[in-house]
Amino acid sequence: MKMTRKQRYRRIEQAEPGEIGKLEALISACTWRQHYHIQPITGLLNDPNGFSYYQGYYHLFYQWFPLGTEHGMKYWYHTRSTDLVNWEDVGIGIQPGDTYDSHGAYSGSAIEKEGQLYLMYTGNTRDSSWIRHPYQCLAIMDESGSITKVDQPVISEVPAGYTEHFRDPKVWKHGDTYYGVIGAQREDETGCTVLYRSSDLRNWTFLGEIQTQLPKFGYMWECPDYMELQGQGVLIFSPQGIERQGDWYNNIFQSGYLIGEPLDLQTRHFKHGPFQELDRGFDFYAPQTMQSPDGRRILVGWMGLPDLEYPTDERGWAHCLTIPRQLSLREGKLIQQPVSEMVKLRGGKEGKHMVSTLHNETRSFAEFAGVAYELKCEIRDVDAEVVGIELRAGAEEKTVLQYDRLAQKVILDRSRSGAALADQNGNVRRCVLNADVLKFHVFMDSSSVEIFVNDGEEVFTSRIFPSKESVEIRLFAHGGKAEFQASKWDY
Ligand code: FRU
Repeated sequence: MKMTRKQRYRRIEQAEPGEIGKLEALISACTWRQHYHIQPITGLLNDPNGFSYYQGYYHLFYQWFPLGTEHGMKYWYHTRSTDLVNWEDVGIGIQPGDTYDSHGAYSGSAIEKEGQLYLMYTGNTRDSSWIRHPYQCLAIMDESGSITKVDQPVISEVPAGYTEHFRDPKVWKHGDTYYGVIGAQREDETGCTVLYRSSDLRNWTFLGEIQTQLPKFGYMWECPDYMELQGQGVLIFSPQGIERQGDWYNNIFQSGYLIGEPLDLQTRHFKHGPFQELDRGFDFYAPQTMQSPDGRRILVGWMGLPDLEYPTDERGWAHCLTIPRQLSLREGKLIQQPVSEMVKLRGGKEGKHMVSTLHNETRSFAEFAGVAYELKCEIRDVDAEVVGIELRAGAEEKTVLQYDRLAQKVILDRSRSGAALADQNGNVRRCVLNADVLKFHVFMDSSSVEIFVNDGEEVFTSRIFPSKESVEIRLFAHGGKAEFQASKWDY
């Protein structure tokens, strides 16, 4: 049953007696709970926030509505890890409900300054006519881990020319100066990113819009993130209102990037190439990046999308984050690879291996069955028309990953994955790949699959909701033959 607005904007202490216990009971009986992904203890998770490294830990917060699976009063929930793999639940990071975040502590980022971690976020407020007034706020985490809000917002006004959709500050340091990008909507209802500057993270000067070559591209750009990688400028953002174009932009909202010359911080000109979708799967949105102490650029996304219902809603929880991915650039594209630390989940075990030539057949490999695992599969010498893998397969169910050699496309089909979701946006995702050898690197968990194709050239990230009996892996080659080599590690 849908919650009323009043119910959605409650804080934890306003829960009915037994309400949280009820959610916990539903959750503990849910077989779709994940084994190694960050997921909400109760209720709804959305964007990753404040992804940073501070005092020996990676810190990763998430947008959190504790009391249900709708978007309501948002908290920052805090998790941390020493290795990007094993995450520890810390507890509430930022609690909403004060004057400048009365209706939610919305997304934002973190940066270290003078031994403290500064969390900059959007305070969402609504007035008595339910009109939104966003404030950009600051909270500071000290060495003991305690987080204190700064009383006054650091940006209290939306600059002239923009609507109340003005949020998600992402901050970085350039020389001695801090810069921040914010996702915005112009008064003509087109999306863009604006730039601010500060010398101390408290006093911010509005500089103006980042001048892209996309003056009319959707109605709102959420969660912008700017970085420099291999001498190039990269702007990641999540635009809303982009129409589907063939195999592109099939999800309800998009997440993508522009690569160009480094942003000119004086003129704000950004000379860039085309907008490219970050992920080709069904469930990916609002990613955020950070730089690790050894200089890697690492990205985590929300494995979900706004405005859709998910099968776990009735089990008291919704969504999870992706595994962390290392970014690099190759031939004008962002390449995404699982961080090398992921091998830790193999627990030092050898894994299982197979080599087999398949000819016009589908074959099940019993020793490869499972629910939470890593699978590496290389397919070569392909003269078959289609080759691929059936994942989480059972009597009726299967999630099909295949390469159509004639169309030169990788195809992910979740029409028979299990419990249905977001059918209105289609059950198949496709993307062009020209390759003789196919490499699928798959991270499977109880209710998700992340597929890195050909060393991170493409990624398909999706939730799937199979029954717990659907555990088989089947390989197939149709219309000819192909050689398969696969390794698998149980997590
Ligand atoms: C993106 C987003 C952000 C906002 C947050 C609220 O999913 O809408 O723009 O800050 O979620 O939870």
